[in-house]
Amino acid sequence: MEWEPHLSIPVHRPIIHLCLLSSLLVSLLAFWNPPTTAQVTTESVPPNVVKGNDVLLRVHNLPENILACGWFRGTTIEPSNQIISYAAHSQEITPGAAHTGRETLYYNGSLLFQNTSLEDTGDYTLQYVKINAQIERVTGQLRVFGE
Ligand SMILES: *[C@@H]1O[C@H](CO)[C@@H](O)[C@H](O)[C@H]1NC(C)=O
Ligand SMILES: *[C@@H]1O[C@H](CO)[C@@H](O)[C@H](O)[C@H]1NC(C)=O
Repeated sequence: MEWEPHLSIPVHRPIIHLCLLSSLLVSLLAFWNPPTTAQVTTESVPPNVVKGNDVLLRVHNLPENILACGWFRGTTIEPSNQIISYAAHSQEITPGAAHTGRETLYYNGSLLFQNTSLEDTGDYTLQYVKINAQIERVTGQLRVFGE
């Protein structure tokens, strides 16, 4: 009578399965990205501008169908800092107290500055209201240099 060698196999099997499972989990976690978290960012185009020239504060990944948005000078949200705003229900773009006559808002959220001055250097904050009424903000910078 002989021993059946395959009897020892089940002892190793659970260990192998655990290793496979944990490496599968690790790779799932590494590649799992919720689809709704595309980061909203701003970019100065060009990154540095000589005074008198134009610069665009470009907004990337702004959610579609926002209810409203507004650009503010600095990082404080208050009416005296408001450059311009947009309301979806009326499709209206309205200049605010901090509008100098040189800023243009596009429907994609980007803000154009024409004939820049040295004083335009600084932070600018875009506040927007998403379709679920959630309010979010993103801040960008402009750097204007002399000739
Ligand atoms: C938004 O619109 C402006 C003006 O048409 C354009 O220059 C810019 O590339 C557009 N896209 C983004 C992401 O700002
Ligand atoms: C640009 O702004 C300066 C003041 O910063 C002004 O003297 C000049 O007339 C402006 N140029 C244009 C084309 O608007």
